[in-house]
Amino acid sequence: MTMKKVVLLSAVLLAISAMTTNAQEAAPASEAAPEAAEVVTDAAAEEATATEAAADEAAAAADPIPEDSDQVKKLIALYPNLVSRIAPYGKVCFDGEECDINITVLAPAVEGQARDGESLYKAICATCHDSGLVGAPKVGNAGDWSARIAKGTATLYDHAINGFNAMPARGGADISDEEVQNAVDYMVEKSS
Ligand code: HEC
Repeated sequence: MTMKKVVLLSAVLLAISAMTTNAQEAAPASEAAPEAAEVVTDAAAEEATATEAAADEAAAAADPIPEDSDQVKKLIALYPNLVSRIAPYGKVCFDGEECDINITVLAPAVEGQARDGESLYKAICATCHDSGLVGAPKVGNAGDWSARIAKGTATLYDHAINGFNAMPARGGADISDEEVQNAVDYMVEKSS
């Protein structure tokens, strides 16, 4: 029962994220739709259509598609985690879109055995820390990390486990303290 709720909640989150992104693109088209329909019924359709098209182009140039907000970027970044959580129970696909998503699959947790930092990093943390998404310090970039490493390992562990500003607790994944620490060790080693 609880698992169903988790799956449902994840699906709702995905839908919200998709709607937020699509809404921005869809808005100009739906505004233009009623005018476009009138033009079709007009006898002098051709000239009007040309004028419409020019006006649409001008409007599009003056009103560029806004960038995704940080919240939307974060939802997109956490998308692979959501997909991998749902994977054992089913798939979420959008109409007319390819259903398979390439995610780095993490070996399942074995009781009392922490997974290695590199696998954890690649499956969970890389979405943000490879590219610097939502302001994440890039792994491999010593400049991004020197001041953070200077804060001490205990602080980095604490921030990675409990969250820190846009950094979600445990990278948004269901992993143990020791596994978070392994991932942090791997990131620090790659960025020193
Ligand atoms: C959704 C994006 C996202 C994911 C996924 C993510 N991080 Fe981060 N992380 C951030 C951001 C953004 C910051 C910078 C936060 C700040 O300094 O305000 C950050 C900062 C950090 C820091 C530095 C904290 C400090 O005190 O300076 C560590 C360590 C870290 N992340 C570890 C991890 C680990 C380990 C994982 C995977 C288990 C992970 N992160 C997954 C976004 C992410």
